[in-house]
Amino acid sequence: MILKIASWRPLALGLAVAGLFAAPLAAQTMPLADRVAVCAGCHGEGGNSAMENIPSLAGQPDFFVMNQLILMREGVRPVEAMSSFVKELKDDEIVALADHFSKLKPVRSDEKIDPALVARGAALATRLRCASCHLPALTGQQQMPRLAGQRVDYMLYAMKAFRDNARAGADTQMTAVIFGASDADLEALAHYAASK
Ligand code: HEC
Ligand code: HEC
Repeated sequence: MILKIASWRPLALGLAVAGLFAAPLAAQTMPLADRVAVCAGCHGEGGNSAMENIPSLAGQPDFFVMNQLILMREGVRPVEAMSSFVKELKDDEIVALADHFSKLKPVRSDEKIDPALVARGAALATRLRCASCHLPALTGQQQMPRLAGQRVDYMLYAMKAFRDNARAGADTQMTAVIFGASDADLEALAHYAASK
């Protein structure tokens, strides 16, 4: 009995000491759950955005999220709404965030999808070969984002920015694909992609 009690003491002490040493380390890197809670304020619970012009992150390829966060942190793709959150992110936090969002289930927003625009968008998407990069189910790969289930308003906003050279740090392949497309074309493409 005495032996048992004695054997617990060093363990309890050991834990307390470990706690002391762990405290300053933990203060440098915010726990992933706390970071994710900040992201959720704009990108939605579970990474599915309910806010106009803010993209959903759920189910994005991890490489895409990593790449964009680095572009944002380095100021190559400046996003004012996010600048104070990204500038303090360490590389390993970016990797953890990308892994987290890539594993969440995408859920389509409650925006109205117009079937006539979907049909028009499908024909355009075939002609412009969107699937060659974003994959046939538009789920994305590597640095190419998932479009399936993404918000219509955000995709329309993003494609206009690519077309009009208004997005700093944009991938020029994407800009080239939709060069010369009309607003109506882009709207049809956004409805089609969101419907997938
Ligand atoms: C205050 C609101 C806000 C917060 C908080 C926020 N974001 Fe964003 N985020 C935005 C907006 C707005 C955009 C779109 C910017 C644009 O395209 O002009 C964006 C874009 C992104 C993109 C690019 C996605 C795409 O499809 O192009 C990623 C990745 C991203 N945010 C990750 C994060 C992560 C991770 C966090 C938490 C650490 C976070 N964001 C916190 C507002 C926010
Ligand atoms: C040659 C490859 C390629 C093709 C073809 C292509 N894309 Fe992209 N697309 C990209 C890349 C790469 C990005 C990421 C852009 C960046 O990093 O700036 C992107 C980004 C996007 C985005 C922004 C989404 C977001 O969450 O930020 C939309 C919307 C989009 N593409 C739609 C389309 C549509 C619709 C088509 C067909 C008309 C298409 N793409 C064809 C490579 C391509």
